[in-house]
Amino acid sequence: MTEKDFIPKRYSESMEHGSVSWEAPSNIALVKYWGKKEHQIPANPSVSFTLKNCRTITRLDFSKKENQSDFDFEIYFEGNKKEDFKPKIKTFFERIVQYVPFLKEYKFEIHSENTFPHSSGIASSASGMSALALCVMSLEKKLNPEMREGFFRKKASFLARLGSGSACRSIEGDLVVWGKHQETRGSSDLFGIKYPDEVHENFKNYQDTILLVDKGTKEVSSSVGHNLMHNHPFAEARFAQAHENLAKLKPVFAEGDLEKFIEIVENEALTLHSMMMSSRPYFILMKPNTLEIINKIWSFRKRTELPVCFTLDAGANVHVLYPEKDKVKVLEFIKNELVAYCENGHYICDSVGDGALKLK
Ligand code: DP6
Repeated sequence: MTEKDFIPKRYSESMEHGSVSWEAPSNIALVKYWGKKEHQIPANPSVSFTLKNCRTITRLDFSKKENQSDFDFEIYFEGNKKEDFKPKIKTFFERIVQYVPFLKEYKFEIHSENTFPHSSGIASSASGMSALALCVMSLEKKLNPEMREGFFRKKASFLARLGSGSACRSIEGDLVVWGKHQETRGSSDLFGIKYPDEVHENFKNYQDTILLVDKGTKEVSSSVGHNLMHNHPFAEARFAQAHENLAKLKPVFAEGDLEKFIEIVENEALTLHSMMMSSRPYFILMKPNTLEIINKIWSFRKRTELPVCFTLDAGANVHVLYPEKDKVKVLEFIKNELVAYCENGHYICDSVGDGALKLK
């Protein structure tokens, strides 16, 4: 498929006003997206677990308007009008309008809320942009009721990507690949797909406990970080490594090999941060407590031989990943040894989930 396949030909229906709602999850990458080309095309493929509990709920109210010269929308977050969210949404609309040309024909009200605390240092762009993209697609489906379910989801992911790259991995569950990868059937730079191959029982309902080490906003945004991969001395090697790591994960997913899983996932997390540390300008998003937690996880793993590992986002928080069967023991370890390193002792218990849901 190409971008052109997402440009609609004509709509059979018209719609004066209405409302649509979606709930979309966050996701945590195992192989990381870091570096992009024009039009939100990733520099390398990535794969993520879709989460279950960390979600954004968005309602899009729409009514037809006279003047169609510009976008007209208001955004409310947890009940409050948010002027400061508008530029990001406007950029999103500008990027997607050629694929959903009706956007300028409506006045919109966007009402959004998260199931996780806003100031948790957890990026809501993945769940937020995917929920909004799905709402826009539900409106398009009203204008073109013939649209097939498969196309609907693909295009929702395609639009979400234009809002925030990782958001395109927040439509489907439970494992999602985004970015063209030789060994992954159906993979594309344009949208995320459900991982097409075998996944072992070990990964069913995998747990992700998110340790909130630093709830503040980060000093360097992802967009800036992605850009620093241009002319990065290790960029090409890193992009090649992501392809390799994704290929190596295939037998791991199929056979449930947790030892190899841990090696690849932790290597990806540390490589992501090493790219930041070796950018020009360089920066560090980990905090002392991030490292304390990593060391504790390593000694716990050595001591107990339980398959617990960590991954990191572009921030200081630590995602602790482990199989469901070890939940009781690992949670006890987290409470006894890791919570002390969290800001105000806060953490979020999550696990792998099934993807976005349309709300009535
Ligand atoms: C480190 O998706 O937030 O979480 O496309 O600029 O919105 P933009 O970037 P974003 O980057 C996410 C980077 C990451 C890794 C990942 O999720 O794959």
